[in-house]
Amino acid sequence: MILLGIESSCDETAAALVADGTTILSSVVSSQIELHRAYGGVVPELASRKHVEAIVPVVDAAVRQAGLSLSQVQAVAVTKGPGLIGSLLVGFTFAKALAYARKIPWVGVDHLEGHIHSLFLSTSTPPLFPFVVLLASGGHTGIYHVRSHTDFILLGQTRDDAAGEAYDKVAKMLELGYPGGGVIDRLAAQGNPAAIHFPRPYLDKSAFDFSFSGLKSAVNRYILDHPDTYRQKINDIAAGFQEAVVDVLCYKLIQAAKVKNCRQLAVAGGVAANQGLRARIQAQAGQAGCSVCIPPLSLCGDNAAMIAAAGYHYLKAGKQDSLEADVYSRSISKICP
Ligand code: KG4
Ligand code: ZN
Repeated sequence: MILLGIESSCDETAAALVADGTTILSSVVSSQIELHRAYGGVVPELASRKHVEAIVPVVDAAVRQAGLSLSQVQAVAVTKGPGLIGSLLVGFTFAKALAYARKIPWVGVDHLEGHIHSLFLSTSTPPLFPFVVLLASGGHTGIYHVRSHTDFILLGQTRDDAAGEAYDKVAKMLELGYPGGGVIDRLAAQGNPAAIHFPRPYLDKSAFDFSFSGLKSAVNRYILDHPDTYRQKINDIAAGFQEAVVDVLCYKLIQAAKVKNCRQLAVAGGVAANQGLRARIQAQAGQAGCSVCIPPLSLCGDNAAMIAAAGYHYLKAGKQDSLEADVYSRSISKICP
């Protein structure tokens, strides 16, 4: 089955054609980063206007890149939340209208389940069920126990900032621009992670909740306490901050694998592009006798191929959406004991 995936939850307008939930026929991502950079973060009203401009050309490009015509698309999957309502509505309404006009099935997909499905696209070896996955992005950070393509149990999540959000805020403090994850990752590789010690926010060590706001404040305090010298130490600040984030993320994921008795780990979401995290989780998983799946860099950030992959499994299970379906802004997953 050839699915058209559409993603517009934040600042990327994306469309992809995916066959049978695994084979990417095309994937087009139109980023708005340049537009929002001047504001140091995503401006919701500007984002939705840009999605309106981009949605038709992006879908058109995805269909052409696949060497197909729109009449060969058999179903549509679209992000229904969480995200910015104005942005979500652009992709969602477009998907509804297209499916209605073409009389093909369509389904709304949770963005977070989409990220988890980036692990099943044919560019990587897919994880075996059941597995535990760390999903870390700009809007969300949590650990899930995944038992099938449609069965996800949230084990814990951040109580304040998402990991990517903490990267972005620290980058802003250091005047490194937006988004901050990639640049801090690069600077961290040139710094000494032991030069400056930042706190590890483990909260309850046996639970899977996270908190990154204290760590972010600790970096801010360091900057305020060293106004004349911190600029010469930017690499060490980046390395010390990244070391603290990676320590916590890896510890919690390995713990989750132990508690859930899983030998299979995975990492997904924008922060999964982090080189320090990728290297560390590979090493620690090996020591714990586990294997780890991480998507290629091109599929860590927001894209529509992951939405098509997740939608394929819902459609296969008989789920379809109707014209009354609506978007939502906040994550609907509840932590299970
Ligand atoms: O998944 P994503 O593209 O969008 C959301 O669903 O939020 O994630 C974007 C986030 C941003 O906060 C960005 O700074 C972070 O992922 N990010 C990184 C890296 N590349 C992107 N964080 C740490 N290290 C990276 N290399
Ligand atoms: Zn995302």
